[in-house]
Amino acid sequence: MAGIRGVLLLSIFAVVVAGVLSYERPPPRKNLFIPRRRLLSSSPEQQVHISLVGVNKMRVSWITDGDAPSTVEYGTSPRKYKFSATGTTTSYRYLLYKSGQIHDVIIGPLKPSTVYYYRCSQDSSREFNFKTPPSQFPIKFAVVGDLGQTEWTNSTLQHIGQSNYDLMLLPGDLSYADFWQPLWDSFGRIIEPLASQRPWMVTEGNHEIEKIPLLHSTPFTAYNARWRMPFEESSSTSNLYYSFEVAGVHVIMLGSYTDFDPNSDQYKWLLSDLAKIDRKRTPWIVGNIHAPWYNSNTAHQGESESDDMKKFMEELLYKARVDIVFAGHVHAYERFTRVYKGKEDNCGPIHITVGGGGNREGLAMNYIDPKPEISLFREASFGHGQLEVVNKTHALFTWHRNQDGVAVVSDSVWLKSLSSDHACKV
Ligand SMILES: *[C@@H]1O[C@H](CO)[C@@H](O)[C@H](O)[C@H]1NC(C)=O
Ligand SMILES: *[C@@H]1O[C@H](CO)[C@@H](O)[C@H](O)[C@H]1NC(C)=O
Ligand SMILES: [Fe+2]
Repeated sequence: MAGIRGVLLLSIFAVVVAGVLSYERPPPRKNLFIPRRRLLSSSPEQQVHISLVGVNKMRVSWITDGDAPSTVEYGTSPRKYKFSATGTTTSYRYLLYKSGQIHDVIIGPLKPSTVYYYRCSQDSSREFNFKTPPSQFPIKFAVVGDLGQTEWTNSTLQHIGQSNYDLMLLPGDLSYADFWQPLWDSFGRIIEPLASQRPWMVTEGNHEIEKIPLLHSTPFTAYNARWRMPFEESSSTSNLYYSFEVAGVHVIMLGSYTDFDPNSDQYKWLLSDLAKIDRKRTPWIVGNIHAPWYNSNTAHQGESESDDMKKFMEELLYKARVDIVFAGHVHAYERFTRVYKGKEDNCGPIHITVGGGGNREGLAMNYIDPKPEISLFREASFGHGQLEVVNKTHALFTWHRNQDGVAVVSDSVWLKSLSSDHACKV
């Protein structure tokens, strides 16, 4: 008994010292690597994932080792493919690595909230299916950054898979391949069960850059080849930033690792994109960046991608009445109040860091003390967020941490849209 009491006292002491909620942090977990299935299956296609293109189309992307048709056959009943579409194939080289054939096919028009069955490269041994997002509220987003590929990633993905989400938002740092290209392929295999079923919308983090001076001077080679996003549809000229609309939400995916100063293309694009928003059609605006503009963790303080980008772009998002800004980069969870220029402001966005997808670098455990008043909740844990936009005025955000492999809702907050707040009328 005395021993147990001692352990209890010690844990309470640890909790008080750490200044965070009472929660015993589980140890790190192993890296995952999923090799090619070549010997196990005759299927040519692998790493299937989908993403939205416009309001009623979907891009299907997959990789084959050798040449195979860039064709998707699809329909609303299993094994009955009424429609077919053909797209393009690319590949890339990175040092001595040569990628497989990367296929990219846009299908549609598709009906909202409908399950479609499909196959890739005319392979009848594997049938996939996906559900299109709704055209009206409610809609549920899963949000997670810094995913990586460890057993914690697996845990996060399992919880997201059980969440009945419509669409994934991933604000940067996907595979943590970090120059070793076979890890991009492994990542594609790990996420395929989820990413072939629901659209995954991503933007880039620092781990996507993969530039090596003299040896490989082009940045984002693997990312741009493997994760083509619908940037042309929002008049962007770069795969590194774009926007899209889904069920009454205007989603902006910004690029923290490309130019963002007032003379940059991204800045000009953002100005024109914000000007085009019709709050009657999309009463909600959700922004995504990789490096957080608000962060009270000791990790990643003072970086230009956080501080300078905030300095240049915060006013644009504020004046447009962006509701929420999601970020990754810091491997922890933190939620701020509505803020603008460092101070609480009822018409500013809520900033939320969800960088705890499960990558191998581990958690960012240390926080600035005392906690700034504008920071409302912080927790160094792996997990994911869910944003359920219920109607044009209300949305529920919840943070689900991976505690011993179980998803525990540890933070939950109702949000009101700024477009419905008369005091914030522009
Ligand atoms: C991921 O987790 C599930 C459930 O625990 C398990 O069945 C599966 O084998 C795991 N995958 C990997 C690659 O470890
Ligand atoms: C929107 O959803 C909230 C939360 O469920 C509810 O209280 C409110 O009445 C709804 N508004 C409308 C117009 O349906
Ligand atoms: Fe990062």
